[in-house]
Amino acid sequence: MELIKNLNWRYATKKFDPIKKVSDEHLDQLKEAVTLSVSSYGLQLYKVLIVNNKEIREQLQPVSWNQSQITDASHLFVFCNYKDVTPNRIDEYIQLTAKKRQLDVEALKGYSDFMKMKLAEKTPQETSSWLKSQTYLALGNLLTACAELKIDACPMEGFDSDQYNDILGLDQKGLNASVVATIGYRHDEDHTQNLAKIRKPSELLFEEI
Ligand SMILES: Cc1cc2nc3c(=O)[nH]c(=O)nc-3n(C[C@H](O)[C@H](O)[C@H](O)COP(=O)(O)O)c2cc1C
Repeated sequence: MELIKNLNWRYATKKFDPIKKVSDEHLDQLKEAVTLSVSSYGLQLYKVLIVNNKEIREQLQPVSWNQSQITDASHLFVFCNYKDVTPNRIDEYIQLTAKKRQLDVEALKGYSDFMKMKLAEKTPQETSSWLKSQTYLALGNLLTACAELKIDACPMEGFDSDQYNDILGLDQKGLNASVVATIGYRHDEDHTQNLAKIRKPSELLFEEI
C-alpha cells in the first residue's frame, strides 16, 4: 500500500527550506483534499486561511512559540472553526444539498430540524470542543495529501489562539484559530528527518474484542 510508505516518509518538519515553494498546482490539489474531508453532518463549520504574506507571518511567529516553521515554510494553513452554530449555517448546508441533489428544500426539513435540535442540546463548552474537533479531520487530510505529493508539513498547536484571532481579525468573522499546519520542503539540515519514528506497538494501540 503506497499510503503506508508515504506515511512513513512524512514527519513533523522542524526546519523548512525557505527557498522552496509549493506550486499552485499542488496547492489546488491540497485544497481539494481539505475540501473532501469528512465533517459531522457534512456541515464543514470552519474556514481555512492560507497565509502567504511575509509580514503577517513575521507577526505570527512570536506568538507561535517562536517556531521557525511559521516564517520559513512555503505556506501556513490556519484552520479556524466557527465559534458557534447559528441556524443559518445549517440552512446554508440544506440549500446547497437541495441544489446539488436537485431536491426541494422542504424535503430536507426533517433533517434540518434534527440537526438544529441535536446541536441545541450541547452545552457551550461541548459545542466549542465539537467545533474545534472538526478542523482536525481537515488537518489530517491535508497531512496525508502532502505525504502523497512529497510535500513536507508540520501540524502545530504551539501557538496562542487569542493572538492569532487578533492578528488575523478572526473575531469579527466569528472564527477561532484552532490548529495550524506549515507546508513546504524540508531543509537538508533538519536532523529530525533522520530520527526513527516513534509509535506504540500495535498490540498496545489496538484491542480486538
Ligand atoms: C495537533 C498537533 C499539534 C502539534 N504541534 C506541534 C508544534 O507546535 N510544533 C511542532 O514542531 N510539532 C508539533 N506537532 C508534531 C508532533 O509532535 C508529531 O506529529 C509527533 O511527535 C509524531 O511525529 P511525526 O509527525 O514526525 O511522525 C503537533 C502534532 C499535532 C498532531
